[in-house]
Amino acid sequence: MEKTNQNQQDAEKQAAALAAVKYVKDGDVVGLGTGSTTTFAIRALGDLVKGGLKITAAASSVATEKLAKSLGIEILDLGSLSKIDISIDGADEFTESLDLIKGGGGALFREKIIASLSKNAIVITDASKKVKKLGAFTVPVEVIPLAYQYVFDQITLLGGQGKLRVKENKTFITDNGNLIIDADFGLIDDPAKLSSSLNQINGVLAHGLFINITSKVIMSEGMEIIVFE
Ligand code: 5RP
Repeated sequence: MEKTNQNQQDAEKQAAALAAVKYVKDGDVVGLGTGSTTTFAIRALGDLVKGGLKITAAASSVATEKLAKSLGIEILDLGSLSKIDISIDGADEFTESLDLIKGGGGALFREKIIASLSKNAIVITDASKKVKKLGAFTVPVEVIPLAYQYVFDQITLLGGQGKLRVKENKTFITDNGNLIIDADFGLIDDPAKLSSSLNQINGVLAHGLFINITSKVIMSEGMEIIVFE
């Protein structure tokens, strides 16, 4: 990406993040997503905490936990929570009906748990993430390693083309010790149906289709903030 486009995209990510943190109130348990857009929100929350805002948080990845703690945000054990007041996370693609593809950063499982626990699950994006139909971005599928080939074959039977995720020449391992298959289904006509088919495959821990979980998407386009809900 050209530098000016990158700067523009970062400015949009930051603007969406700053709009989202305005929804956070004193006393909230806040779910923190993972990725470059969410990082802007976590940094903004860190500033607010330094200014006296009282929140606790749950992190969707080791990286997010480390960043939040370094900014003075108290992190709770995700496994002990039965509700989260508000969560802020990014997305790789979203539609106006609030269906998402997530997991480009590999944190999809904990992100899905956080979104499922959240009363107000906010997604923040720049304008490049908005699509008419999901699927130009491949669907990440987190797989328990011993089920790898089985899941890969099931994805093929569903019409997908799987690819084991590799990062910096090494097999990508999630924070949960699992593998990711990035599955290309082409443009997806019925994301809810595909989501439920993937959920039924033994050995799939989670997949990146987020259907009916998101409360609102805050998108920044240029200087304009647009809220989809
Ligand atoms: C990580 C995610 C991220 O939210 C998604 O990949 C978007 O990342 P970024 O904000 O860096 O574009 O789902 O698992």
